[in-house]
Amino acid sequence: AKVSYEEVVYLLHHNHLPNRAELEELKSALVAYREIPKGVIDIIKKFPKHTPPMHALRTAVSALGCFDTVADDDTMDAQRRKARRLIAQIPVCVAYFHRARQKKELIHPDPSLGEAANFLYMINGEKPNDEMVSTMDMCYVLHADHGMNASTFSARVTIATLSDMYSAITTAIGTLKGPLHGGANEGVIKMLQEIGTLDHVDAYIEDALANKRKIMGIGHRVYKVLDPRAPHLQRMAKILSAKVGDAKWIQMSERIAELMLQKKSLNANVDFYSATVYWSLGIPTDLFTPIFAIARTS
Ligand code: COA
Repeated sequence: AKVSYEEVVYLLHHNHLPNRAELEELKSALVAYREIPKGVIDIIKKFPKHTPPMHALRTAVSALGCFDTVADDDTMDAQRRKARRLIAQIPVCVAYFHRARQKKELIHPDPSLGEAANFLYMINGEKPNDEMVSTMDMCYVLHADHGMNASTFSARVTIATLSDMYSAITTAIGTLKGPLHGGANEGVIKMLQEIGTLDHVDAYIEDALANKRKIMGIGHRVYKVLDPRAPHLQRMAKILSAKVGDAKWIQMSERIAELMLQKKSLNANVDFYSATVYWSLGIPTDLFTPIFAIARTS
């Protein structure tokens, strides 16, 4: 509630929150690292337009490793630089691919904008308003660190063989993509669209449970209580839905959550309400999981 995504990045890398000078140094480093090699931009532009963005991102990160001459340098300084470079460049790869697949001009990073604002600017081509930025920043914070989830586990397996950081993050992106992990946020919107209206929710859930189909955004491998991130996103989803004048998705989501708790004692997870938040911000559904990847890379 009180810190920006960049402060969280610093916290994760240094185990303490930054003072003002440390924060400024990190922010300028991230801005400076946003420029990605031309060779990687060329590769991104050549991806088929129908490629799901998570495929594009996985391959772009792997390509970034090919263009980094110190990819295998395992000194602490080099590792820190690579970590920062990846954090800065992953959103740029996502945004470039998103623009390229629509045959739109690429929007280059704006050094005056922080991470969340810059990403919104690069996908939309317009400066986001303050509310959009603070919402996106909060989503980044909530997704940044979450212990040993599946993608972190796979990244750690790769790095523990003394492979390089690009390989580890590539592995992690492949794991995050699955619908039982990060891909669930995209699945939530697809499910809501399939259900269609609030009065269809009960029958849909009953049928899904009877046929042992998973409800996306519900349940968690670790949390058997409410995911602490979910209430923040639920609150944001409510505010934004009211603003865009489309309360249907949040009403349906809340009914689904209520039923799943009653029937299976399962709670909503981080993906459940983040889907409605991103939807209300006008972000295309297939960018939901890449946003998780952007923040989680830290
Ligand atoms: N929809 C329907 N049933 C579910 C469910 C869901 N989303 N999540 C779990 N269940 C069922 C399980 O099948 C199991 O049923 P059973 O007792 O009849 O065998 C029971 O609830 C208990 O499952 P649990 O042990 O709590 O889940 P898990 O640890 O095996 O799986 C997930 C955890 C995250 C993989 C699972 O909850 C899931 O697939 N959720 C949907 C995808 C999702 O949102 N992923 C993002 C996670 S952050």
